[in-house]
Amino acid sequence: MKTTLSTALPSQFETECLVVPVLDAAENNNGDKSDKSDKHNPQIQTDDKAVLDAAADLIASGEVTGKMLEIALLHKPAGLKAKRLVLIGGGKAKNFSSYELRKLAGAAVRNLKAKDLKSFAFVAPSLWTGQADTSSQSTLIFKRGGMEDAVKSIVEGAFVGNFDPDYYKSDRKEQKIDELTVLVPGQASTQSLQTAMDQGRIIGEAQNFTRDLVNEPGNRMTPTILADRAKKMCDETGLKCEIYGGDKIKELKMGAFWSVAQGSDEEPRLIVMRHEPAGAPEKPVLGLVGKGITFDSGGISIKPGEGMEKMKYDMAGGAAMIGAMRAIAQLKPNLRVIGIVCASENMPSGKAQKPGDVQIAMSGKSIEIINTDAEGRLVLADGLHYARQLGCTHLIDVATLTGACVVALGMVNAGIFANDEDFYERFSKSLQKSGEKMWRLPVDEEYRDMIKSNIADIVNSGGRWGGAVTAAMFLKEFVGDTPWLHLDIAGVAWMEDNKPWIAKGPSGIPVRSLVEFVRDLAAGPDGTVNGSGGPGTGK
Ligand code: BES
Ligand code: MN
Ligand code: ZN
Repeated sequence: MKTTLSTALPSQFETECLVVPVLDAAENNNGDKSDKSDKHNPQIQTDDKAVLDAAADLIASGEVTGKMLEIALLHKPAGLKAKRLVLIGGGKAKNFSSYELRKLAGAAVRNLKAKDLKSFAFVAPSLWTGQADTSSQSTLIFKRGGMEDAVKSIVEGAFVGNFDPDYYKSDRKEQKIDELTVLVPGQASTQSLQTAMDQGRIIGEAQNFTRDLVNEPGNRMTPTILADRAKKMCDETGLKCEIYGGDKIKELKMGAFWSVAQGSDEEPRLIVMRHEPAGAPEKPVLGLVGKGITFDSGGISIKPGEGMEKMKYDMAGGAAMIGAMRAIAQLKPNLRVIGIVCASENMPSGKAQKPGDVQIAMSGKSIEIINTDAEGRLVLADGLHYARQLGCTHLIDVATLTGACVVALGMVNAGIFANDEDFYERFSKSLQKSGEKMWRLPVDEEYRDMIKSNIADIVNSGGRWGGAVTAAMFLKEFVGDTPWLHLDIAGVAWMEDNKPWIAKGPSGIPVRSLVEFVRDLAAGPDGTVNGSGGPGTGK
């Protein structure tokens, strides 16, 4: 999708369709239960009189309320050069943030491409003009920046909306928007807006890149193919990339990783991607470690047949790391980042590991395999240890790790676990920016008892209760005192239903948060460059 910026007056802009957000400025009908009136005060988000005139009858009819994602379409709007005018509702003006704006742009794309339109123009809401919300009281402080923020959100949301997962339908209609113009009427300087537009494109494309990888079925996304795709991306973006196979994994004594890989005819791959900009400080070095199980049958502890096909997305954590590294390579934050993906199948076979087997991880810890279906933590154990060995001072792992996390949090929040308060606080600020939902779960020492083994240092399955937590406790054994975050995305990596702004299928979570976080880290605490000790309070 080609994206351009224009300062033209919306009414004077020639386009297939002019899309203008409408916000409800009514204060009365929100929260106050005693007020039963449902009055709306729809405000079209432009000062362009001709647009307001063209939409006047629609507004007067009461059919347009400004409700979130409500869409009204007019053909041949009087006085406009556009062939169509779309008013798209963004909900309550006072709650409107870049989070909602991204959704509007995505919904506009999905609505218009279904009509076979190929291009349109989206008017940046006038609410944003000169109104960067920086008051410390405001809950929007992290959500609504200046006009740059609006442009970035529109472009990012549009890219995300333009992706569809129906790859292998032989009658697949290539319905896509080819060209988007973002209208920023009256803006004098467009240099910083152009940068914002590029950022939106990079972050949107990175999510789609990840979704594309996750969407592929297991026969078309083996560890080898995943590594090839990562390598190609690295070559294109200038990242250093090393790809290792089974021999190297054994040579590195990654006994936990290999124990999963040994049962499959497909070769495993250890993918290492490095963003090491010349002028970046020695520390921090952020390690992004992803679970890349390209198909999880459960192994000898085989899964029930029903729903097993979903386990093609068990590499979503790894794919998120590859997508995040792509954006990082393009945005060039002044910070060292190493992306590591442990890619393997988990299969039953005569060579597969068995329940009861004992494996020695790269760190030297011995692991009693209770359940071969608890394979994600095994590959990550060695991935995390290796990341520390490569010099990472801070670690984030992302994995579709446990069904228990889905039981706990459903498909709304990812689980997030942390061993370091400062690191967690810093990351959660990026979550507010990204809008991706994550809920913190504990890693208290008391849970450690649940992964004790009679024969080895630890077991790989803590049993029925607190399964998301005991999986995190297992990983914690391999990070030592390195500040670490673990994101369990089992419930949020794949969406069962279409949303107006995004197609069902792979969600691309948490690419957006990771990229925001890396940008934030590169800026350093309080805007200084990196600080001395890295993330957190700069100790
Ligand atoms: N890949 C699964 C977890 C999963 C479940 C991802 C649902 C996405 C949706 C993981 O490898 C797994 O099988 N975990 C087991 C662990 C158990 C055997 C301790 C689980 O959650 O049942
Ligand atoms: Mn499994
Ligand atoms: Zn798995």
